[in-house]
This record gives sequence, C-alpha cells and structure tokens, in this order.
Amino acid sequence: MNQQITTSPSTGWERPEPSGQFLEKHSADDIAIWQKLTESVAAIAISNGFSKSEVQRRIGMQNSTFSQWFSGTYIGRLETYNRMAEQWISAFIEASGTISTIRQSPLFIQTRLSREIFDTLVWAQTTADMVMVTVGAGMGKTMACRTYAATRPHVYHATVSPHTKTVHGMLVELASELDVREHNPAKLTRAIGAKLGRIGGGSLLIVDEAQNLVDDAINQLRHFMDIYHCGIALVGNDEVYTRFGRTNGGPSYAQLKRRIGKRLNRAKPYAEDLQAYIAAWGVTDPECIKFLTGVGLKGGALGQIDKTTKLAFMVAEGMGQPLALDHLKEAWRNRDVEDIA
Ligand SMILES: Nc1ncnc2c1ncn2[C@@H]1O[C@H](COP(=O)(O)OP(=O)(O)OP(=O)(O)O)[C@@H](O)[C@H]1O
Ligand SMILES: [Mg+2]
Repeated sequence: MNQQITTSPSTGWERPEPSGQFLEKHSADDIAIWQKLTESVAAIAISNGFSKSEVQRRIGMQNSTFSQWFSGTYIGRLETYNRMAEQWISAFIEASGTISTIRQSPLFIQTRLSREIFDTLVWAQTTADMVMVTVGAGMGKTMACRTYAATRPHVYHATVSPHTKTVHGMLVELASELDVREHNPAKLTRAIGAKLGRIGGGSLLIVDEAQNLVDDAINQLRHFMDIYHCGIALVGNDEVYTRFGRTNGGPSYAQLKRRIGKRLNRAKPYAEDLQAYIAAWGVTDPECIKFLTGVGLKGGALGQIDKTTKLAFMVAEGMGQPLALDHLKEAWRNRDVEDIA
C-alpha cells in the first residue's frame, strides 16, 4: 500500500502566473531560466517538506525578495537572484544526493506534429516562402523549431517577447541571433538582410512567439523575404493569424496574407503524440498513462505532462516508491494549474 504523500495545495508551493510587468521587464532567456529554477526549488521543497521561509533562509535571500522572485513579480535584476537559487539547488543536490530524484525531461522525440512542423519549415526554407505555424500552447513548437535550427545549416531561430515586439526591438533580437554587429540603427535592416540573403540562397528565419509582433514588424519580415529571398516562418499561437482576418486591417493585411505560402494550424495535440511522450518519460502503468493523457488534453499539452511527471517522479522517488497515480494527482493538484476530475 502506498504511503499517503503529504503534499497538498496548502503547502503554498503553487506558483501563480508571473505578472505582466515581470514578463516585460526581463529577457526571454532570464525568464526561461527563472521558470526552471522555481520548478526545481518547489520540487526540492515539496519532497523535503520545506516551508517557504525555510527555503528563503537556506538560499540566503531576503524574505520579501524571495517571495517576489518565486511568484514572478520581482522587477529588479533577475539574474542575480536566479544565480543565488541555482547555487543553492546545486549545493543541495550535491549534499543530499538528490541527483537521482531530479528526472530530466526526455530529449527531442519525433512526434507526428514535429514532423508536420519540420515539413512546413522545409517548405519555407527551400522555396523562400513565408509560412505560419499556429499550434496550441505546449504542443512542441519551440522544441521542434530549436531542433530544426540545430540540425540544418542557415537556419536562425529568434524569439520575440512583449519587450521586443516593435520593429526596432525585433531587429535587435534578430541581430543577436544572426550574430550581426551593427550599432547604427539606420544600417541594421540592411546588415540583417545581407546575412539572410546569403549567396546561394536557402536561409530560413524562424520567429517564435510571433503573436507578440506589431503589424509593422511582420511587415518588416515580409520585406526581408521579398528583397533577400529567404524563408520566413512565423510561429506562435492563433493570434498570429487571426489579425489577418480583422476587417480594419486595410490593404497591408491583404499584402501580407497573400504571401503566406503555407499554414500549419492545430489546436489540440495528436493522441499518438501524447502516448509517445508519456512513453518517453518511462511511464507504463495504464492508470498513470490515462491520467497523463487527460492532463495533456488540457491547455499546455506536452508541457503540462512534462512538469507534472517531473514533480511526481521527484516526490515518488524521494519516498523510495515507484511512480503511482496518487503521485501524479498530487503533483497536478500541487501545481494548481486547474482541477482535473
Ligand atoms: N518533440 C518533443 N520531444 C520531446 N519533448 C517535447 C517535444 N515537444 C514538446 N516537448 C516537451 O513539451 C514542453 C513544451 O514544448 P514547447 O515549449 O516546444 O511547446 P510550445 O508549443 O513552444 O509552447 P508555447 O506555446 O508555450 O510556446 C517542452 O519543454 C518539452 O518538455
Ligand atoms: Mg514556444
């Protein structure tokens, strides 16, 4: 009989959505690191029964700073506190031998959706066309694009945020991704274009989180494609596309819309992809698979399965038990994302 696990929503380790100001203030990289660190901190705390004040004291952060850092409202220099948390996590793991209890997410697996994303990107790259990938949250857009960019030549994968959504903000982001060093704003467009329009053609620019872009920034991407004959892939949620349907868009929308050579649109994950991903986590118990499939069908798809399974494994292994349905349910409840029947 499984020992009842002691985690519950009242442990207070659920993390609310970060504030808008937090998201605007910090770079996508810092936020991604913060996200991983807060997950690890919560996982260690839950499996060791630490309260917030105990963790805050162990990390050595001020009480109010820790609570702002953890809840995603801190708007000072994020990197400093990320580093403090990272050092504590490494020291804790080393000292307690917890290493085996922090499971790593599976490496990239070729799912049906990732194959469709690859096909769409290949089209854009080989025909110097503009494509749009509008796929639901957590279904694997970023992972597929990152893998595509890492395995093919002349592919650039840039991510825009509310912070870099303007034409200039986007150009600065692109310059960094393309390793273009041009400090004169007037020359930036040309310098980026020159890099994209390499002799021989065949380059592809993937712009992730493209729903953040203002219309003028999308228009700038169209310009790169027209002038420099490179492929452009706009990747993001449905909002990237729905703006083209708006009637007040005027002629510029028509101009943009007619350039979209191919669109991959999917709101829900494929059942076979959920199965493959759950299998890649090494979960074999039919009840656990059924529960995780339910989790994957909620918003957030593979991303939700990932976080829930990681936390459940950590708690189960911390108690020396094999992963069971109770651990998954408790992990899901503890993450406090949404109630599941
Ligand atoms: N093909 C894959 N192989 C292995 N893991 C995957 C794959 N696709 C997604 N994942 C897992 O799911 C998580 C979410 O995927 P990803 O970040 O790529 O989704 P997304 O569609 O970009 O989501 P968002 O809309 O939030 O940006 C990843 O962190 C990873 O753990
Ligand atoms: Mg993404």
